[in-house]
Amino acid sequence: HNYAVIMAGGVGSRFWPVSKQSNPKQFQDILGSGKTLIQNTFNRLNRFIPAENILVLTNAIYRDIVMEQLPEISSSQIVLEPIMRNTAPCILLAAMKIHKMDPDARMLVAPSDHWIQEEDLFEQDMCMAFEEAEKGERLITFGIKPHFPNTGYGYIQYDHKKTAQVYDVQRFTEKPDFQTAQSFLNQGNYLWNSGIFVWKAQTILNKFEKLLPDMFRLFMIGQEFYNKPHETNFLRSHYQYAENISIDYAIIENSEEVMVIPASFSWNDLGTWCSLEDELPGDAESNTVVNSRFIPVEATGNIIRTESNKVVLVDGLKDYMILENDEVLLIVPKEKEQQIKNIRNEVIERY
Ligand code: GDD
Ligand code: MG
Repeated sequence: HNYAVIMAGGVGSRFWPVSKQSNPKQFQDILGSGKTLIQNTFNRLNRFIPAENILVLTNAIYRDIVMEQLPEISSSQIVLEPIMRNTAPCILLAAMKIHKMDPDARMLVAPSDHWIQEEDLFEQDMCMAFEEAEKGERLITFGIKPHFPNTGYGYIQYDHKKTAQVYDVQRFTEKPDFQTAQSFLNQGNYLWNSGIFVWKAQTILNKFEKLLPDMFRLFMIGQEFYNKPHETNFLRSHYQYAENISIDYAIIENSEEVMVIPASFSWNDLGTWCSLEDELPGDAESNTVVNSRFIPVEATGNIIRTESNKVVLVDGLKDYMILENDEVLLIVPKEKEQQIKNIRNEVIERY
């Protein structure tokens, strides 16, 4: 009864120019591990979920990339969204499809772009979650110990004085502003939301019916087509009408019976370039180099990532990023990593 859904429709704009619309970061080997992020994600799940129970939801433009990178799954397991509508519609659609295959199904929802190396600990936590999900109408999240007031994450308030494997979530706050995030950190009873979820398909369907009735009705129209050839036509004509909203804002923030398992595995969401520094060993001068042959002269704390193992000589540069794709070369200070999204938009507008 166990299924998994890999969400792979994002653009990864803060990882530009290496991540770009025609080839987002989840389809790339960002850390030089020999496998792309979505391949790593699939393998991590395939340890305890059979390949035929794993669905990939992505934008229609990535169909061929997914087929090529995941030969283990059939094309009917790749669900193509005609337009980007964020994670809530994607998860509702997946839940309806899975529920139709197996009304008793439990499903795990996973982003495609995370870096998790301790696969055995990951498996343990997920298997515990599958069991916990059975015990009621529960939405299970996985909490990460926060170490700075990151405003790009969801925050989970829980009773940290208790000792348990699974906790009731007292409050879930998606992407708080900086001051709020700082106060959550100071209070000590908050965890980051990892973005991975486990629940019964029936449970999440009930939540959608209650909290997003319009979206629920929209996707119910396609019920008879799911898992059949006409599904694609239905999605082409109807998907665009779904509200553009994430599962966190739409469901998790507003639900009772949200639970959290503090993750026993270490986790990196590879959200920005500097997050690479936590995973890769730097050189003696703390330069982080991927996919390049690096010649430092006077160079400290830089991040270098070029195409096709180019030779890069750096002299007199500190705390910069040198990033490249086949069209663009970007040289910016590391402290501007959050602005890369805007830099990208500006460059795309001009050229
Ligand atoms: N199929 C599909 N369709 N996938 C999508 C879409 C879509 O329209 N939009 C995003 N995704 C995929 C992304 O590729 C990523 O793997 C995952 O869904 C999560 O989307 P993000 O856009 O990366 O979400 P976020 O990082 O802002 O926030 C979420 O993750 C954080 C942890 O990384 C939230 O769940 C936060 O609460 C959480 O802390
Ligand atoms: Mg993310």
